[in-house]
Amino acid sequence: MSQAAFRVPSNPTVAVVGATGAVGREIMTCLEKRSFPMARLRLLASARSSGQSLPFRQQAVVVETLDEQSLKDVDIALFSAGSGISKKFVPAAGSRTLMIDNSSAFRMGEKVPLVIPEINGSMAFTHSGIISNPNCTAIIMAMALWPLHCQVPIRRVFASTYQAASGAGAAAMEELRLSTKAHLAGQSFTPRVMPHPYAFNVFSHNDTVDPESGNNGEEIKAMQELRKIMGHPELRIGLTCVRVPVLRAHLVVTSVEFERPMKPEMAREILTGAPGVRIVDDRAGNHFPMPIEATGQDDVLAGRFRPDYGDPSGHTISMMLAGDQLLKGAALNAVQIAELVSGRG
Ligand code: A2P
Repeated sequence: MSQAAFRVPSNPTVAVVGATGAVGREIMTCLEKRSFPMARLRLLASARSSGQSLPFRQQAVVVETLDEQSLKDVDIALFSAGSGISKKFVPAAGSRTLMIDNSSAFRMGEKVPLVIPEINGSMAFTHSGIISNPNCTAIIMAMALWPLHCQVPIRRVFASTYQAASGAGAAAMEELRLSTKAHLAGQSFTPRVMPHPYAFNVFSHNDTVDPESGNNGEEIKAMQELRKIMGHPELRIGLTCVRVPVLRAHLVVTSVEFERPMKPEMAREILTGAPGVRIVDDRAGNHFPMPIEATGQDDVLAGRFRPDYGDPSGHTISMMLAGDQLLKGAALNAVQIAELVSGRG
């Protein structure tokens, strides 16, 4: 079905699939905060959560078990229950349901737009029933890279990420809380969600490592997705993703090489006017983007612009970015896509 066949009504029935999860709950908060107009909200999760109720617009909405019939009358389904569930319950061709999918299941599909509204919003109107929400690291990086690339083309990106627990779901956030408490109480704690002790530790991202290249799944996803979102298939990018004991906002440290000379002040100026980006760049106060200040914020924080002395040509700058993984990195971006396709973006 082409997107022309989809008529998202002005008052759609909306479903949140994975409503009890870390991202699902934030989707509900975003829908409420942004007064997203809808006829009805359906909350779907596993049978474990069936009958539980969650607050939405001063009402208690009962969580239903996701099954083959669940999406029958749904106009927009915001999925955030993992790739397996997205693949299993993808709306059938010809269905009226538009899927906005937060998983990696369809992101690299040729006919699937991978959308960040501030960057490639028009792609949302080219869908065939599925729009993918990008990987959180890709979103946070693209929000700053894209406005710079529009002014001076980017040749190469090196980055290291310092990623929060939330990207691995509500259970990982809880493991960070519990293992921290146990550590402070001098008790032992056996990790169940993460592969390594999380409290007071840092480890290479928990996604599976490709035995050939040594890159892990998170690195591969973010690199591929950045190229797709920016329409820059040749972008040279090297990325190292790391988990840090932070609850819900990622930090990215990056060096970016441009086709032409780039001054830190120019990068700062370009990003000062960029939608969804806020500058935090106080050298005197040694105050730069931090996860604790990005938490709960819609904007991606950008700062610590400086020349990268590894490249004496003056084409490379370094900077730091921080973004709330659950908001712009997931739920907020998905709701912004829903707003776009329903004519409110
Ligand atoms: P449930 O809470 O009932 O397990 P997170 O990313 O925070 O781990 O959240 C995952 C979300 O995906 C939760 O809402 C979870 O529901 C949901 N989920 C997991 N397995 C299924 C399933 N088999 N069917 C529907 N929803 C599922």
